[in-house]
Amino acid sequence: MMLSRQTRRAYTTSVGASRSRHTVAITREIPGSFINAVAAHSANQVSDVSDVSLALARKQHHDYLSNLRKHIPTICLPPIECQPDCLFVEDTVVAIDDTAVITQPGHLSRRGEVDSIKTMLLQLGIANVYDMREIAGEGATCDGGDVMFTGRHLFVGISARTNNDGFEFLSDAFARHGLAADSIISVPPVAAGKEILHLKSAVTHIDKHTLLAPTGSIGDTVLEALGAAERGYEAIRLPDILSCNAVAVNGHILAQASKCEISKYRIEQACNKRNLGLTFVDTSELAKKDGALTCCSVLLSV
Ligand code: GLY
Repeated sequence: MMLSRQTRRAYTTSVGASRSRHTVAITREIPGSFINAVAAHSANQVSDVSDVSLALARKQHHDYLSNLRKHIPTICLPPIECQPDCLFVEDTVVAIDDTAVITQPGHLSRRGEVDSIKTMLLQLGIANVYDMREIAGEGATCDGGDVMFTGRHLFVGISARTNNDGFEFLSDAFARHGLAADSIISVPPVAAGKEILHLKSAVTHIDKHTLLAPTGSIGDTVLEALGAAERGYEAIRLPDILSCNAVAVNGHILAQASKCEISKYRIEQACNKRNLGLTFVDTSELAKKDGALTCCSVLLSV
């Protein structure tokens, strides 16, 4: 696939020498239309998806933003009222250091969220911006929620939202900027797309060597699909799948304030052992619309 990029300044850093610090987060306020957001998978995770409180969702989101701001300067874009899922900014872009891929979200209803994120990235001066929509056309799709960059590997979950063309596009873009080909891994759809929405609904990293993954068969399947053990990852196994989605930001972890005490205890132990800060944040109302902690921000190093 031939790539061409839009640039704002000279290319200076390759993702192969990935910076560990994030310098700015992009988020977006919750629109009034949030109650109409897509909710295909939440029934697996929370008991009542029919009764979404906009006020509670906004309060929880506000708390999330307050906690995020303690660790990174955070831009909060205005809501797009006609895009009920627009707070889930993660799905619209995959960024590593000064290279970003603007995605073509897998769900048609989400595509109107993308342009304003692209504008923001260009304003922030990301050096290399590849737009999957313009370059790959209709065929390639990707939700950022399917993409996990641990600092050592870029894992891309193939799912109902992310296809092989989407993976190839990401792979070409990031390989071009220094990510080794053998560190870019397509994760088969055994993991994402069935019981869970995205790859990161079931697994996230808290540092370059440690993953959070569920207990039971979903966790076993995901970890096997990642080749986690062979690639040198330790997995912290959690009974509550929602708790497996955490945000790692500049040595601090934002984790789900789950009712599952075992999950919280294991996350605490893991963070203590690794000298990582930890804050529990409750976004259970967003989970009713398949939103997890990582969904609500894009972390950049610019
Ligand atoms: N509600 C999140 C999504 O389905 O994309």
